[in-house]
Amino acid sequence: MSLSICVIGAGIIAQHHLKAIKEITSTQLLAVADTDSDKAMNVAAKNEVKGYTSYKEMIVKETPDLVIITLPHFLHKEAALFSAKEGCHILLEKPMALTSAECHEILRCVKDNGVKLMVAHTQHYLAENITAKEYIETHDLGPLLMVNDSRFVPYFNPDRPKWFLEKRKAGGGIFMNLGTHSIDKIQWLTNSAFTFVKANLYYPTAILQTDVEGSGTVYLETSTGVPVTISMSGFSVVPTQRTEFIFEEGIVKVEIGKGVFITKEGKYTALKVQELPDPFVLQLKDMIRTIHGDQDSNGNYAKLLVRTIERIYESNDQNKGLTMNNDHL
Ligand SMILES: NC(=O)c1ccc[n+]([C@@H]2O[C@H](COP(=O)([O-])OP(=O)(O)OC[C@H]3O[C@@H](n4cnc5c(N)ncnc54)[C@H](O)[C@@H]3O)[C@@H](O)[C@H]2O)c1
Repeated sequence: MSLSICVIGAGIIAQHHLKAIKEITSTQLLAVADTDSDKAMNVAAKNEVKGYTSYKEMIVKETPDLVIITLPHFLHKEAALFSAKEGCHILLEKPMALTSAECHEILRCVKDNGVKLMVAHTQHYLAENITAKEYIETHDLGPLLMVNDSRFVPYFNPDRPKWFLEKRKAGGGIFMNLGTHSIDKIQWLTNSAFTFVKANLYYPTAILQTDVEGSGTVYLETSTGVPVTISMSGFSVVPTQRTEFIFEEGIVKVEIGKGVFITKEGKYTALKVQELPDPFVLQLKDMIRTIHGDQDSNGNYAKLLVRTIERIYESNDQNKGLTMNNDHL
C-alpha cells in the first residue's frame, strides 16, 4: 500500500522533498500547504496536487500517513504537535525545534499519539560523509587526535529568506542553521557526543539588520576527550565545507562537493566516493523504514544536537566553557 504524504511549507527545501516523493513509487503526494498562497498554488500545480494556505486544514481534510514539515524553525514545534495529534507520522526538518525543552514536548507528544518521528539530518545521506565513515571504521588509523571543521558560506545574501536573520524565528544564526550539520557530522563520524563547549561568536549588528550571529569559532570536547574546533563564517568567503579527522596514523579530510582525501607519504590522495541516489531519496526511505519499525527514531539524537547548540549560545553569552550533561536526554 502506498504511503500518502502532505508537505507543510513550499519553500526552498520543500522542493527537494517533493522531488524525492516523485522518485519513490511507494509514496503518493496528496497536497502542499504554505501561508504564501502564490507559493502554495504554484508548487501544488507543478506537482499536480491540491494547494492549501492552512496546513491544519490540509491535514484534517487529506488525512495523510506522513507529513514533511519544512517550516521556519519557530514553527517546527506547533506543526509537529498538531500533526502528531492528528495521527500523522512526521519527517521534520532540522533543527528539531528552537530549544531542547521544545524537542522534549515533541518527543512526548509523538509517543503519546503512537506516531513515528524522524528529523531530517541530511548529512547522513551525503556520499562524501558515508565514504569517510566507512573508511574510518574499516581502517586502523590509531587514536583520533583532533577534528577541525570549517564551514564558510555567504550567509547574508539577499536571497536568504528573512526569517533566518531573526533570532526569535530562527533560534540563532549560522550555528543554529548550519552548525547543526557540523555537530551532527562530527558526532556521527566519531561515534561520540560532546561533553564540553566553549564558544566565541560574532554578531554583525553594527553592519546588518539582524540579531543572529554571522560567524564564530567553537571549541568542543568529545566524551573521550578529543578536541574539536568548528569555525564558521557567513561573510565574504569562498564557500567551503571541510572537516579534517586527524588520527595518529593519518588524516581523513572530507570536503562536501570535492571529495574525501587521506594522507599517504605526506600527500593527500583522493578516495573513490560512492555513487549514491539523491540524499533526499535516501532520507525518505529511512523515514519509511522508521514508520515500519525497521529503524529507530532519531528524535533523542536530534534533541541532543539542539541541546549542544543551546550550550554554544550559553557559553558565548557567559564567556566561559560549559560542560554538557547528556544524562537527562
Ligand atoms: N536539510 C537541509 O540540508 C536543509 C537545507 C535548507 C533548509 N533546511 C531546513 O528546512 C526548513 C525550511 O527552510 P527553507 O530554506 O526551505 O525556508 P523557506 O523560507 O524557503 O521555506 C519555509 C516556507 O514556510 C512557509 N511558511 C511560513 N509560515 C507558515 C505556516 N504557518 N504555514 C505554512 N507555511 C508557512 C513560508 O512561506 C516558506 O515558503 C528549516 O528548518 C531549515 O533549517 C534544511
